[in-house]
Amino acid sequence: MILVTGGAGFIGSNFVLDWLATSDETVVNLDLLTYAGNLANLCSLQEDPHHIFVRGDVCDQTFVSELLERYKPRAIVHMAAESHVDRSIHGPGAFIRTNINGTFSMLEAARAYWSSLSGNRREEFRFLHMSTDEVYGTLGKDDPAFTEDTPYQPNSPYAASKAASDHLVRSYHHTYGLPTLTTNCSNNYGPYHFPEKLIPLVIVNALAGKSLPVYGDGQQVRDWLFVSDHCAAIRTVLANGRPGETYNVGGWNERTNLEVVQTLCDILDRLKPRARGSYREQITFVTDRPGHDRRYAIDARKIERELGWKPDETFDSGIERTVRWYLENEHWVKQVQSGAYLTWLDKNYTQRATENCT
Ligand code: NAD
Ligand code: DAU
Repeated sequence: MILVTGGAGFIGSNFVLDWLATSDETVVNLDLLTYAGNLANLCSLQEDPHHIFVRGDVCDQTFVSELLERYKPRAIVHMAAESHVDRSIHGPGAFIRTNINGTFSMLEAARAYWSSLSGNRREEFRFLHMSTDEVYGTLGKDDPAFTEDTPYQPNSPYAASKAASDHLVRSYHHTYGLPTLTTNCSNNYGPYHFPEKLIPLVIVNALAGKSLPVYGDGQQVRDWLFVSDHCAAIRTVLANGRPGETYNVGGWNERTNLEVVQTLCDILDRLKPRARGSYREQITFVTDRPGHDRRYAIDARKIERELGWKPDETFDSGIERTVRWYLENEHWVKQVQSGAYLTWLDKNYTQRATENCT
């Protein structure tokens, strides 16, 4: 079996669902169920004996060690994290705790467990650490895309906490020989994406007749990857990645934020037209994110060349699938819009000075 951390979050639940759809190897899913974790994402697995959910904290090293002793996984896929840049600006403490201290305690527990293994089990054990392209900082318009050799220049507390965790993982391989794998991925999108992030926020706000907040001039560029493609990349790296290596994962889909928002409006205009006018009329430019990175772009040639992974989904097909999923899953959307979500919207958006899009 494998141990996944953060498997009730956006990427985590997609990963667990994809894993169990393609393999009968059991997943032990360790998740604290913070505001971002949602067991409803996994309700189709309720009767599946290959899914063992454990509520717990990755910072609790004793608890993690007990889990490892009890289940004896052949691999750990560590993706539990605080993941939202805007939240890291409002309150960095949780990011330091979960992303840095949490990764440290996962590494310590993994090192002790791995040291106790022998023979093939020791040889084949892997610790896969899921990270982000944000550790590399920001690019100018014509700069080449991030490679695995691009120096780290994290700009937000979130990115800095992920960079720190990447360094810890690297050091555990270098110093102790722990068989680690690190992936640095670009922006994911798809089903079960919590509506604090751009794409689901815009879909949910559009349907509710609310404004669609675009930070600054909307010309920041992100490289978008459909979440199932990321899950396939993780399976590939876990199976065939070389211990100690890092792999960049991306979709070759660079878009400005304004383009993304306009695309979402156009799809909604077609699939669920407003009584009058276009959803584009709801676009509102708001005060920029402090320290906002201008452009991310991933050079994913290493994983393609060495491991044969390539994304299947184009941005056009993936974004349409995503919008359709949100239209078909109104119940899920309602359920995640709890009081805590409304408090967050108030904190992040009410204070921003707004000016209408012309
Ligand atoms: P998410 O915020 O949707 O989910 C995070 C999950 O971790 C939640 O289920 C939460 O309950 C759990 N969690 C948080 N703190 C925990 C703790 N202390 N102990 C146990 N569980 C805890 O995040 P996501 O978008 O699915 O991202 C998953 C991973 O991928 C993160 O490491 C993130 O940095 C990385 N990543 C995300 C993206 C993206 O576009 N979303 C891109 C690249 C990398
Ligand atoms: O690049 C990978 C990263 O992508 C992951 O490591 C993070 O976990 C993930 O959250 C994501 O970070 P971003 O900050 O790029 O994602 P977000 O969806 O928050 O924002 C995408 C872009 O849209 C960004 O340039 C900010 C902008 N934005 C975002 C929101 C929420 C807006 O213009 N308006 C908004 O309301």
